[in-house]
Amino acid sequence: MRRAIEEKRDGRVLLPERWEAIVAGYLAGKVDDAQMAAMLMAALWRGLSTQETASLTKAMVESGERIRFPDDTFVVDKHSSGGVSDIVSLVAVPLAAACGARVAKLSGRALGHTGGTIDKLETIPGLRTTLSVDAFVAQVQRIGCAIAAQTERLVPADKRLYALRDRTGTVPSVGLIAASIVSKKLAGGAHAYVFDVKCGSAAFMQNLPDAEALARELVAVARSFDRPARALVTEMSEPLGRSIGTGIEVIEARELLRGRSGDGRVREAVLRITAEMLVLARIAAPEKAAAGALDSGAAYEKFVEMIEAQGASRAALEGMRVPERIEEAYATRAGYVSGVDAVELGNLSRAWSAREATAGIRVEVRIGDRVERGTVLARGFGSAAAATALEPAFEIADAPPQARPLVYATF
Ligand code: URA
Repeated sequence: MRRAIEEKRDGRVLLPERWEAIVAGYLAGKVDDAQMAAMLMAALWRGLSTQETASLTKAMVESGERIRFPDDTFVVDKHSSGGVSDIVSLVAVPLAAACGARVAKLSGRALGHTGGTIDKLETIPGLRTTLSVDAFVAQVQRIGCAIAAQTERLVPADKRLYALRDRTGTVPSVGLIAASIVSKKLAGGAHAYVFDVKCGSAAFMQNLPDAEALARELVAVARSFDRPARALVTEMSEPLGRSIGTGIEVIEARELLRGRSGDGRVREAVLRITAEMLVLARIAAPEKAAAGALDSGAAYEKFVEMIEAQGASRAALEGMRVPERIEEAYATRAGYVSGVDAVELGNLSRAWSAREATAGIRVEVRIGDRVERGTVLARGFGSAAAATALEPAFEIADAPPQARPLVYATF
């Protein structure tokens, strides 16, 4: 292992069998945390070639079980690199299924200030996110979609490596992130993937060149395993939707699926990502199909079918309400909203929603909006909500800021 660390330190490319030995050795206890941390830091500084990232990905997949779908079932999946108020999976998965695609999604829990789809789904009373492999595969075949929690048995190497990266400042490496994400997608059994790479102050990739590099690498690594893939680089400097929390985001997703959400930006994100999933699934006229299934209520009915298959009910979903206690944060001056600290809002909502499932934050303004003194900027819901904590998250300037697109690039 020492030689391999030195070679990587000096910027050399390691062969596939070296990566295999490193991952297997680490899991077997022959490579210790200090050596692995040094290797990760060398990989972060020197970078990994696409071939090396693919080798690391393969070694990680081989550390655990793999889900397999029958040959006649073509399955797509989508992945977000992590954001705030990102309800896209909750809507895009049933929406793509309502258009005829089969979608098998394994999701994670909250990481830092970013939300986790599994934590959100589990606020629907009765809903199970722990599905056996057989139940997961059968549900996708029967109704077209499932969202389940990543199990301990799939890619155990990622769990160990991720925890070590978290402790050693080695998370933001394009190669290491790509290997972490693609290994979990491969093990999850889907045949094609859409990657939503977030870019901005509340994302792992804070600038466009880094986000584009990750998007390109995700697509290249997936394709090296013969998995068609598309990637979008999307804006994450402010919350994507209006709600931040867990159950409160399910409520926003439910309203969007029922055609009652007023937020155009999150709807556009859902439609763009779903259309990419439909392209991979070879569904004709993808944009039209996605908009049609959202507006007709077909996607909402598919969502209800999915949560019923996982133990919840329509009544439980439709009975979800935000807490009655509300605190409002107001603009203290007139001007234009020039910044919304999504990291801070993500952290606050995590703390608040830990106490009550539907507690959280609703953001009432977007960057660029004109506000007057006294305009409501955000509402906090739940017993822990405090307007004084919300106010510092909003910046107001005299001039409107430069507009930011929702989608920066597609690959
Ligand atoms: N998400 C992942 O699954 N892995 C990473 O390394 C970063 C974000």
